[in-house]
Amino acid sequence: MLAKRPPLGWNSWNTFGEHISDALIREMADRMVSDGYLEAGYEYLVIDDCWSLKERDRNGLLVPDPAKFPYGMKALADYVHSRGLKFGMYSCAGVQTCAGYPSSYDHEFTDAATFASWGVDFLKYDYCNFPDSGDCRARYETMSLALKATGREILFSGCNWGQKEPWKWMASVGAHMYRSTGDIMDNYRSFTEIFKSQLDNFCMSGAGCFNDMDMLTVGMCGSGNVGLGKVCTYEEYRMQFALWCLCGVPLMMGADLRKLAPEYQKLLKDKDLLRIDQDEECRPPYLIRRGGVTISNPEPKEGEFPWKTLPDTAYTVFRHLSGGEYALAFINLAPAEASVHCELADLGLPAHSGYLLEMKDVFTGENIGAKKDCFNPTVPGHDMKLYLCRLVKESD
Ligand code: GAL
Repeated sequence: MLAKRPPLGWNSWNTFGEHISDALIREMADRMVSDGYLEAGYEYLVIDDCWSLKERDRNGLLVPDPAKFPYGMKALADYVHSRGLKFGMYSCAGVQTCAGYPSSYDHEFTDAATFASWGVDFLKYDYCNFPDSGDCRARYETMSLALKATGREILFSGCNWGQKEPWKWMASVGAHMYRSTGDIMDNYRSFTEIFKSQLDNFCMSGAGCFNDMDMLTVGMCGSGNVGLGKVCTYEEYRMQFALWCLCGVPLMMGADLRKLAPEYQKLLKDKDLLRIDQDEECRPPYLIRRGGVTISNPEPKEGEFPWKTLPDTAYTVFRHLSGGEYALAFINLAPAEASVHCELADLGLPAHSGYLLEMKDVFTGENIGAKKDCFNPTVPGHDMKLYLCRLVKESD
């Protein structure tokens, strides 16, 4: 079975956009192995848009751009496989890709056969330039069947940006993940908006077909193809990675692996975070509480107070993991420190239960003891606290 757990890998788009080549992909393959990403679980190496010529050949086949991929895709796939990785490629359900290259509308079976002949293991399938008269769902159905008809096991990554409520049907048509939002940008606002937009949809994601909250920007630090706005701090990138892991979604790294600072290399391979993401039960998290953080308002205008409350900035999220573990997150999206609340009764643990929740801070590794009734940790602005928890019997 494919996508038993959220797929992990690397994708070329966030950093490189159209500037991709055979040499670059081989280098990334080498890095994925030598820097320990494959060992940590990242197995798919995916080439995104801009890999082909602008025209099909006279037989109607897609042609890799010889200036970028002089040895063709089969040779590159062989190299990627020889490093122990899986090879991913990209096409689109419309008549052209987003960057204006030929795509698979009405060519689904031909293109799927081409991908299979090259040894492709993963297909990201985008939604640009989709004809007004077309039926979105039907086209994803067709590509899904076309991939299956090849007889090769190819993970199908449906990327229609949350259009037509894909959480309701992508799993049914055979996809293994569905992009639920527009494109991530390399800034704090972008990834927090993505997280908030999916709060009600977590429950649709699970083994076999996962909610894809888009590729990570962790460690990009403003360089690359999707940098826009203020560069994230380390804590903000840590929050992005921890939120994706908490949600149990695919983790596709987007940074240039050759330039990743050591703290981000470490973060992306963090064992506890990856364990949460990859938990074998694949249960979705759920929202316990959504609130507002009150911050100071140093220069109040007439009629205003010297403080103000920012709505929808404090979130408490809980997730059942396997083996008697739980993840509990306190998320502060406001720019100032705040206490984020949780009544343990709201996650099913009333004060009279005779049990406490023992907690380990995932970021520091510190065991912070067992909690009862309520727990309201102080969380710095634009940051979160994440705990791995277990139930322990209360001693009399
Ligand atoms: C967008 C897609 C991005 C990237 C880009 C390539 O539609 O959401 O992830 O694939 O196209 O042009």
